[in-house]
Parts: sequence; C-alpha cells; structure tokens
Amino acid sequence: MSSMDRNLVLDAARVTEAAAIAAHKWIGRGDNKAADQAAVDGMRKALNRLDIAGRVVIGEGERDEAPMLYIGEEVGTGNGPRVDIALDPLEGTTITAKGLPNSLAVMAFAEEGKLLNAPDVYMEKIAVGGGLPSNLVDLDASPAENLKNLADATGRSISDLMVCILDRPRHSGLIKAVREAGAGINLIGDGDVYGVIATSQPDSGIDLYMGSGGAPEGVLACAALRCIGGQFQGRLLFRNDDEKARADKWGITDLDRKYELLELAAGDVIFTATGVTDGSLLRGVHTFPGGARTSTLVMRSATGTVRRIEGTHDYARKGALG
Ligand code: FBP
Repeated sequence: MSSMDRNLVLDAARVTEAAAIAAHKWIGRGDNKAADQAAVDGMRKALNRLDIAGRVVIGEGERDEAPMLYIGEEVGTGNGPRVDIALDPLEGTTITAKGLPNSLAVMAFAEEGKLLNAPDVYMEKIAVGGGLPSNLVDLDASPAENLKNLADATGRSISDLMVCILDRPRHSGLIKAVREAGAGINLIGDGDVYGVIATSQPDSGIDLYMGSGGAPEGVLACAALRCIGGQFQGRLLFRNDDEKARADKWGITDLDRKYELLELAAGDVIFTATGVTDGSLLRGVHTFPGGARTSTLVMRSATGTVRRIEGTHDYARKGALG
C-alpha cells in the first residue's frame, strides 16, 4: 500500500505555487541565476512547512555544489510520511530570464526508493502520450520507423505528426531525419519536461518527443507520464569519465541500459507543475496589487486523477505563500 496520503496532492501543489510566485519577479530580467535562486528559496521554504519526512533524490545538485535542495537533503517537518522528492524549482531558467513561454516549477513525490537516482548527465529520450498500443516507439528504432508506427497506430500520415525536439546543434542529425521522414518539428529552446508532457495533451499539437536533455528532467517527466499516461524510454549519455564516475556513485553499473518508464519512476507518484511564464500547458504567474494568480497541474498515479488548480494568493494574509 502507498505510504502517500491523497491529501499530499494539495500540499505538493502549494510547493510549486510558492516556487513559481518567487521566480515570477525575475521573468524577462535576463538574470538566470537570480530567477533560479528565487525559485529554489521559495520551494525550499514551502517544503519545510509540510508535515512530511522528505528526502530530495533529484535536486539542485550534489551537496558540495548546491547549498540548497541538494540530493540527500532532508526536507519537511519530519512529522509525517517518508517521501522521496524529485524537484526542479525552475524548469527553464533561460526561458524565464528571456520572458519566453512554458517555464515551470515542477516536483514529484514518490514512495521511498522508487525513483531512479539519476546523475546530472544527459539522457536520450523518446516519449508518446497515452492510449496507444504498448511498445509503440523505441530508442533503438530510427526516427522514420518510430514515426511510421505512431502514424499507423493513430490512423494518420507521418506528415500530420509534430515532433518536439530541443533546439541544439547536437540534434542536427535527428532534426534532418525527422524532416526527411515527413513530420513537422516543434523546436523548443529549453524545457523538455514540458515537451514530454505535451505529448500526453490532446490539444498541444505535439505527438512525439525525441532527443537528449537532462537525466533529472527525464525522471520528472516520467513521474508526470505515470499519472497522465504515456510511454517513455531513456538512456543515460556519458560524455567523459567524470560523468561515468557520477553514475557509479549512484550505483548505476550498466551504462548503456535502456530504461523503461517504470524503471525511472515506479510506485505511487504525485506530480505537480505550476506555470511561471505563460505557456500552452499552464498559464504563468499573474500579479495584481497585493497578490498573484497561479495555474497548477497536479496529479497522482495511483488514481490517475488530474487536477488543474487556479490559485489566488493574497500576500497580505498570513500564509498566503505557504
Ligand atoms: P534549466 O532550467 O535547468 O536551465 O534546464 C532547462 C533544460 O532545457 C531542460 O529542460 C533540459 O533537459 C536541459 O536544459 C537540456 O540541457 P542543455 O541546455 O544542456 O541542452
């Protein structure tokens, strides 16, 4: 049985709301660091108010490089259920600093030991939304094969499909192959947690996510897909010996392993995301004199319940941000 009470869903939503509100004042200010720091501070403060015995398993980095919300940090009052936490207080720091769409504050609660302790390296990813035949896409298949399988399963042509890919030079071969196969590409500047979740949103216009991004973001995206439905495969990518040593430290011995969704995020999972800047998944934080409005997506794998919470926060009242 899950150690996580269903009421943790609202607690979780409060945490990403607080991070998003804290980051909001840095939208469009060109200061990535300040935006990230504000979100980290806001998230940590909100987490430490919760009656949980939380442990950060995917966080801001290792203890010696991240003073706050580092991997292994204990958060919460300690009076409550033991939960493992994957977090990214500001997913899309550059997006926020540039005032562009789709930056999010994201977090997942999981039962102890159920999330992959992913080192901060790249991960090759492929994802599609829910309701499709299982094993439909595969990291080891070519882009053309994956697109054909998806087109056949959905009764469309490849030319009707849209693939989301991070706009990076390392993806030039992938981009060429997808275009040659006939699909369109939604190139995003940052934020692949959004890109993966978008595959599960019928109105997003995105059918498939492909390419490499952060491994921690891969685990967070899997937590979301566990709740909302979808398929995902990931493989860690190591660029040098130092990165391989990081994997070893986290007990990862098979460096070429292809991970399935349930190997990245198992057990009962709660996922929450609050919009920082306006986007197609969520509205961003909007302020009014003395307060702010937030939009949050919060969901739980055990029940599959997906909630959208529109919050109005009155700064003048005690606890408005917590
Ligand atoms: P940050 O918010 O930490 O800057 O991450 C943004 C992001 O775009 C992630 O969504 C993605 O997984 C990763 O960076 C990609 O890394 P890179 O910018 O090195 O290609």
